[in-house]
Amino acid sequence: MNEKISELRNQFEAELRSVQNDTELENMRVAYLGKKGSITAILKDMGKLSDEERRALGQEVNVLKDEAAEKLAAKKEEFARLELEKEINAAPEIDISMPPTLERGSYHPITLVQRQCEAVFKSMGFAVEDYSEVVTDYECFEALNIPKYHPARDMQDTYYLENGQLLKSHTSAAQNAIYKKYKKALVEDGVPIKAIFPGRCFRNEATDACHENTFFQMEGVMVDKNISISNLIFFMKTMLSGVFNRDIKVRLRPGFFPFVEPGFELDINCEICGGAGCPSCKHSGWLELCPCGMIHPEVLKAGGIDPEEYTGFAFGLGLTRLAMMKYGIKDIRDLNGGSLASMSQFTEDE
Ligand code: DAH
Repeated sequence: MNEKISELRNQFEAELRSVQNDTELENMRVAYLGKKGSITAILKDMGKLSDEERRALGQEVNVLKDEAAEKLAAKKEEFARLELEKEINAAPEIDISMPPTLERGSYHPITLVQRQCEAVFKSMGFAVEDYSEVVTDYECFEALNIPKYHPARDMQDTYYLENGQLLKSHTSAAQNAIYKKYKKALVEDGVPIKAIFPGRCFRNEATDACHENTFFQMEGVMVDKNISISNLIFFMKTMLSGVFNRDIKVRLRPGFFPFVEPGFELDINCEICGGAGCPSCKHSGWLELCPCGMIHPEVLKAGGIDPEEYTGFAFGLGLTRLAMMKYGIKDIRDLNGGSLASMSQFTEDE
């Protein structure tokens, strides 16, 4: 092989290794492969050579030219790749798989009514409490005057964990903890207990248009000296007019719940048929919305409150049912169905 050629090849490779960027690379391309480049220059001395030598040299120069062009191109690609990597590493983390335009999300109808109820109760001085979904048998039943083997347990079959805990079958399961949390302020500072606690509840239930194994309630309690049924009715009516933006017809019927005495069923006029009767209200024109009552002395005692001195009311509002009423949703299963098309229609109030 021509000595000059192998020298030039070595020189080219050494220089290529030290090139730092695209500009230096381009300068190198011109210096070797340009019209006046050093590879091309070798051919200029060919005059003195024999035909055969000339052909052989020509071939070697062409090989070197191709090789050099290929290596320059590879280096260029490497620079481009490094540049891209640098940009990617410097960019803020974004999810490039997201569609470029996103439609605005909407709140679930249960979230909407829950917030409306919370706003009304907050405006009346109630605290909003959060509570866990997994509770003990004591919290869910015993502290609520429902001892083991009490028949009232049959109405609330739920899902049990292997450790004996259970998924709460009603928000009343939080009552005991609330009394214990606020009793000091009640007894020592005379601050009435006023709290609501919305939450998801579970029951082992065959589902149909009106029943679901997972649903939402909102419990509320108020405890102070001289609390009566009139206080209960006042707060319930105020809350309902706040949610429906008008006066709502209610009726109170006696109802049995072991944790209240007396206990009531508070019904509202069926908003779907206006009271004329329809499948949603079982053709009665009324819908059971909010069982309630005066807190049973045993329940107050379990919460560390003296029932001789204090009385209170409690209610367990069916948030799921309230959402169905307010938005005219006929089948409870739609609420957990996950269909965005049905559930995204209710944003107008927010
Ligand atoms: N926890 C009851 C249920 O889910 C509802 C209930 C009834 C709650 C009366 C109350 C109440 O606070 O006073 O069936």
